[in-house]
Amino acid sequence: MSSQNKSSRKTILDIKKMKELGEKITVLTAYDYAISSILDECGIDMILVGDSLGMVVLGYDTTLPVTMEDMLHHTKSVSRGAPNSLIIADMPFLSYQVSPELALTNAGRFLQEAGAQAVKMEGGKEYAEAVHKITSAGIPVMAHVGLTPQSIHQIGGFKVQGKKEDAALRIIEDARIMEDAGAFSIVLELVPEKLASEITKSLSIPTIGIGAGIHCDGQVLVVNDMLGLFDKFTPKHVKKYANLNQEIKKAVKNYISDVKISSFPDAEHSFK
Ligand code: KIV
Repeated sequence: MSSQNKSSRKTILDIKKMKELGEKITVLTAYDYAISSILDECGIDMILVGDSLGMVVLGYDTTLPVTMEDMLHHTKSVSRGAPNSLIIADMPFLSYQVSPELALTNAGRFLQEAGAQAVKMEGGKEYAEAVHKITSAGIPVMAHVGLTPQSIHQIGGFKVQGKKEDAALRIIEDARIMEDAGAFSIVLELVPEKLASEITKSLSIPTIGIGAGIHCDGQVLVVNDMLGLFDKFTPKHVKKYANLNQEIKKAVKNYISDVKISSFPDAEHSFK
């Protein structure tokens, strides 16, 4: 067997190196082959198959109904489209909370069956043992603190976390514990910019912010949000880089009109 690594895929070593060099890390979510191929061709560093899948693709109100089978199905599709980016699969609700053993079994399925190179888990010190077990088995883990949407009913809504000093201290402690447990990076979601900056300076692993300000080592957005596919509301932390909702509506209306007036298919799109 050749010892040469022919793959150009980013590894967790590349990601950690970027923090050391001060190079910002780019992450977007994807849920299928079509979008993951585009992100990969553009040179995105990491693709997260987020359990936001439940809300932006499957139409649920929260991420809680998302299952392991949903996540495996979509991770397979994403990984077929992206040969260069590091692919991280989100561990869905109840796939890791029950026991470290179940967490390891489920994390392993993403690498063995779905082509991911890492998994992401929400939460702090209560999951340190699970993170340690998974990383000890050779599976990279991205941690996730701040707003953790799988705990939405306990948190009481999608709101900024760590505004009060005691809450901020808990997030700082959770982040440190996740680093000690072996996580290779950590998502900071909806926390004040100053808190995210403090955590970023105190950790040796990269922080990836979403609604956490400019001082994180990298940024992640939900791809449907940044492409403007969803037009009901735009959260404060989302910058819309396109308005695909409008573009798609324009195209579909043109198609409907062309078919109704018999101008499609024309000679160019028909066979003799
Ligand atoms: O599920 C998801 O897309 C996420 C990101 C928002 C970090 O967890």
